[in-house]
Amino acid sequence: MEALRNLKVKVEGLNVTYTRDHVQALKNVTFDVYSGEFLVILGPSGCGKTTLLNAISGLLKHRKGVELSGRILIDGINVLTTASPLRGIGYVTQKDTLLPWRTVLGNVELGLEIQGVPKAERRRRALEFLRKVGLEGFRDSYPYELSGGMRKRVLLARALAYGPEILLMDEPFASLDAQTRLLLHEELLKLWRDHRITVIFVTHDIDEAITLADRIILLTARPGSIKGTYKVHIPRPRSVQLIKISRSFQELYARIWEGLSEEVLYA
Ligand SMILES: Nc1ncnc2c1ncn2[C@@H]1O[C@H](COP(=O)(O)OP(=O)(O)OP(=O)(O)O)[C@@H](O)[C@H]1O
Ligand SMILES: [Mg+2]
Repeated sequence: MEALRNLKVKVEGLNVTYTRDHVQALKNVTFDVYSGEFLVILGPSGCGKTTLLNAISGLLKHRKGVELSGRILIDGINVLTTASPLRGIGYVTQKDTLLPWRTVLGNVELGLEIQGVPKAERRRRALEFLRKVGLEGFRDSYPYELSGGMRKRVLLARALAYGPEILLMDEPFASLDAQTRLLLHEELLKLWRDHRITVIFVTHDIDEAITLADRIILLTARPGSIKGTYKVHIPRPRSVQLIKISRSFQELYARIWEGLSEEVLYA
């Protein structure tokens, strides 16, 4: 079955070392991501999850003090060696990167501006995605006027506004209260379904991983390497509230916890 699907990202024998302190963050990491798949990378704190997304996004390539080996192919092109700029990747980073001096609309337009999209088109796309995340009425607000959940929605709108084929998300909902997280899970799944993007989502939360994923890759404690892969067979569309009381959710939770808890002890 999987052989019939289109391969979107291929990570092969990836090693990453921060040379100043001789910290190896990732060790021989190999996995595939299929087009349109929702893949979750799960691992204990400090195991190299952010490092992995930074590598895939191309951010680590030219960074001083970082040694990289292996291959990361996106649509067959090696991110680590290609000279052309990477297009089609949206990245919601672990750190909130909203610009405080720009309005909500100005923040969502930012990615489009960098890409040189003309002003009218920029505005149209930004407003379309603000509407999709339910923040149209806050277009002229500044980031400090927003709640934590609203800020996350703006970041999501910004990452999606220029139509990426791959969306990288690094613990985007970690700091939010439980209810807001549930709402955002629901919204994210809807956006993913409507736009047929490939998502690589990082978290250390098993609940969140099972709720969202088609497949979960579990990383070991640092240096992160692949400890296991779990397919989530729970049908979609999923109810983010009811899913947790289903038997298949609880069984999968127990299996993953067994693997993760050992790594948390090492972390
Ligand atoms: N720029 C850097 N320079 C040196 N070491 C770094 C750098 N970035 C990360 N590290 C180290 O690499 C390891 C992995 O860090 P990384 O941020 O990728 O982990 P993580 O899984 O995202 O952690 P968390 O769950 O806390 O976000 C850590 O030991 C960290 O100290
Ligand atoms: Mg991180």
